Amino acid sequence: MSATFWVTHVNGEKTTDLGSFERAVRACPDNTYVRIRVMSFDSAPLVLSIKMCYHYWPTSTLTRDASSEGGWRSEVACGSTTPSLINSAPTIADFQVETVDAPTKESLKDNQILVRNLYLSCDPFLRGRMAGSRNSYVASFEPGNPIEGFGVGIVEASANPDFSEGDIVTGNRFLWETRFVINSLGFVKVPSGSGISAASYLGVLGMPSFAAYVGLISISNPKAGETVLVSAASGAVGQMVVQLAKARGLHVIGLAGSDDKVDFVKSIGADAVINYKTTIDLDAAIKQAAPNGIDIYFENVGGELFDIALKNMNTFGRIAGCGMISQYNATPETAYCIKNIMEIVIRRITISGFVVSDYYTKPDYKNFIQEVSAKFKEGAITYKLDEVVGLEKAPQALLDLFEGNNFGKRVVKVSDISDTQ
Ligand SMILES: NC(=O)c1ccc[n+]([C@@H]2O[C@H](COP(=O)([O-])OP(=O)(O)OC[C@H]3O[C@@H](n4cnc5c(N)ncnc54)[C@H](OP(=O)(O)O)[C@@H]3O)[C@@H](O)[C@H]2O)c1
Repeated sequence: MSATFWVTHVNGEKTTDLGSFERAVRACPDNTYVRIRVMSFDSAPLVLSIKMCYHYWPTSTLTRDASSEGGWRSEVACGSTTPSLINSAPTIADFQVETVDAPTKESLKDNQILVRNLYLSCDPFLRGRMAGSRNSYVASFEPGNPIEGFGVGIVEASANPDFSEGDIVTGNRFLWETRFVINSLGFVKVPSGSGISAASYLGVLGMPSFAAYVGLISISNPKAGETVLVSAASGAVGQMVVQLAKARGLHVIGLAGSDDKVDFVKSIGADAVINYKTTIDLDAAIKQAAPNGIDIYFENVGGELFDIALKNMNTFGRIAGCGMISQYNATPETAYCIKNIMEIVIRRITISGFVVSDYYTKPDYKNFIQEVSAKFKEGAITYKLDEVVGLEKAPQALLDLFEGNNFGKRVVKVSDISDTQ
């Protein structure tokens, strides 16, 4: 038995209200589960529709939400839909729901594992995967497939002798479901009893932190006494850039979008932090914070901040092109046009874009893990996670990144390690 619900058409009504969506989900029969998946999108730029499904297994999160029905599980899946046109930012209405059969141990084929999600990672690059071939270095989501990304989970059954029930695993093909069956290729076990939490494998030891390491250490050749400017400085990548740079004796200036974020970035060692949203003359504020100019700009946001940074670079300065989140929802009409591009020539600036996945097989990764895990265990590195509880909140948790509504590395807690079926 299955039921189909729509975020936009719950009980026949058009709604984007997650509350009614949740109520509809709870009405689902036993032995079903929920997942979040891409429904379809046109091949034309910016045309997409995301399908959202989410599990209701008896997790701590779900117990809290559905205590009167404790122990039940339900499944919601998406029905068919027509692609919706996203001209700029995706909204919650672009996620849809479908009922699918719950995975079982018996269904495992060779090398497959059954994983229960503990944490899913909300990362800006997922936006690129929702936009056809436009502006992404990762393949587009396949229409009809669940959303996938980085995650940490617990193996509940395995048809690969390298994985056993109870192993905690991580990887970048975690499906946005409470449980999923998948080929174990690319999944890695995380050490148990290391004193490092499961969520840390998406945060301080995860992909964004490694991106900070690559952009600063491998790409930018930082030297003590130099000045680095970091945008989105309180975020998943930025907070690690700040701390790695301070540890190497750099003068660190952060840009952040709220006073709380400014305080946090100062607390982790930045010498000056500017709230770029409330500062009227950002160029003047950067000049004041960096009287000797900027040697390294760690670029996370693009747009106007990039333009202003260009005007403040020193001769032979370096820019690590990590990302440009301010432009991910832009259309050709709204994309920001850089005005100070000639500064690249005048100041002989080197701009190096990079993608972290190119570095996992290089010594940089081992060096990163050694340095950061040691410092984290000693308490010499702070890492702020921003945890949202409940798979049903994952779409909004992702969309928040593009509004600056996250504070730290955004993860979605799906279940507890101690949860059982
Ligand atoms: N190249 C790679 O391999 C790689 C790997 C990981 C991440 N990245 C990139 O690194 C960047 C940061 O990613 P993250 O995971 O660390 O995200 P994050 O900083 O944790 O979250 C995104 C932050 O970006 C800022 N932001 C959002 N919209 C903005 C806008 N229009 N203008 C200015 N700032 C805006 C907000 O911070 P404020 O409130 O401070 O504005 C928001 O909190 C992204 O561009 C991402 O694509 C690249």
